[in-house]
Amino acid sequence: MNVNGVPMRTIWLNDDGWSVEIIDQTIFPFSFETLTLRNVEDCARAIADMYVRGAPLIGATAAYGMALAMRDDSSDAALAHAYETLHATRPTAINLKWALDRFKAVLTPLPADERMINAYKHAALLCDEDVAVNSTIGDYGLALINDIAKDKAPGTPVNILTHCNAGWLATVDWGTATSPIYKAHDMGINVHVWVDETRPRNQGNSLTAWELGQHGVAHHVIVDNAGGHLMQHGQVDMVLTGTDRTSANGDVCNKIGTYLKALAARDNNIPFYVALPSSTIDFSLHDGVANIPIEERSGTEVSHVLGRTADGKVQTMQITPDGSPLANPAFDVTPARLVSGLITERGIAAATTEALAALFPERAGKTS
Ligand code: MRU
Repeated sequence: MNVNGVPMRTIWLNDDGWSVEIIDQTIFPFSFETLTLRNVEDCARAIADMYVRGAPLIGATAAYGMALAMRDDSSDAALAHAYETLHATRPTAINLKWALDRFKAVLTPLPADERMINAYKHAALLCDEDVAVNSTIGDYGLALINDIAKDKAPGTPVNILTHCNAGWLATVDWGTATSPIYKAHDMGINVHVWVDETRPRNQGNSLTAWELGQHGVAHHVIVDNAGGHLMQHGQVDMVLTGTDRTSANGDVCNKIGTYLKALAARDNNIPFYVALPSSTIDFSLHDGVANIPIEERSGTEVSHVLGRTADGKVQTMQITPDGSPLANPAFDVTPARLVSGLITERGIAAATTEALAALFPERAGKTS
């Protein structure tokens, strides 16, 4: 997508041919800066501390982490160490394990002196695939938006509510939930997005709102609790989110608060769709509510917020009383029964074991 009119991805190889550039997502929307990753530890830190985030981009960063690791040491021991270091960063998004398993399978059979070059090639391939997959998700999702648009009175927008950032900043490009939105906007469909702020880290108001603004998509940022009210008053036509892990039966794990949006959507007869690359499906789990591990992050994400003061200083401020105990589960799981459909690169599947298995027969029944 474009940043100030210049096309960009979220991760790319530096001109030096080996180090890796990312966009620092911790300082949005106040600054736009890039960071250079030079080794596997840099990549692990970038994922754990959320300089990069979003399930597909976490996978892509891990891919380049494996390449950087192989540049420093391409032994079996280094391969295993890099896998473990990256795998330990964040527990919920399954794209991380998916990417690491792919690298393990590609690199392990190779002689050590061929691993580095193949790891770089494979990281570039994984990124290109992510872009293509998300673009295709956009085409399938666009058809849904178009159908809604046809039923609307002329001049009225299709109102889409989204949660967290499942935009291009969460992927290599296009985004998952935003891909259909960008395609609809580019086709001239009148779309308007309700952007949940997405406490505690505010990925909605810092990332999604920024992205949509860059692309010229009409939107309003709302507090996380506003969605139900808007739905009751006919101001939401569709909820569209991403996911960090979807189990084989179609339970959808996504940023904390997604479940409440799905409940409100069901109560108001509003379709709740989830856009995802198949790398986000965990075919080894058959009950996402019970089995998807939910990351518990630092309480300081709850007690503190980043903001800009009237005189332009970017500051972190405490908003809770000293000493109040804090809890910060970062994700929740929306049961499949509340999901209207899963928009994948192979089409839109019902959120059921049978439908997902029919779309991805080569992966269904496997352990990862
Ligand atoms: O904690 P984050 O910012 O990594 O969480 C991201 C989300 O929950 C996204 O909605 C999800 O990864 C889908 S991204 C295409």
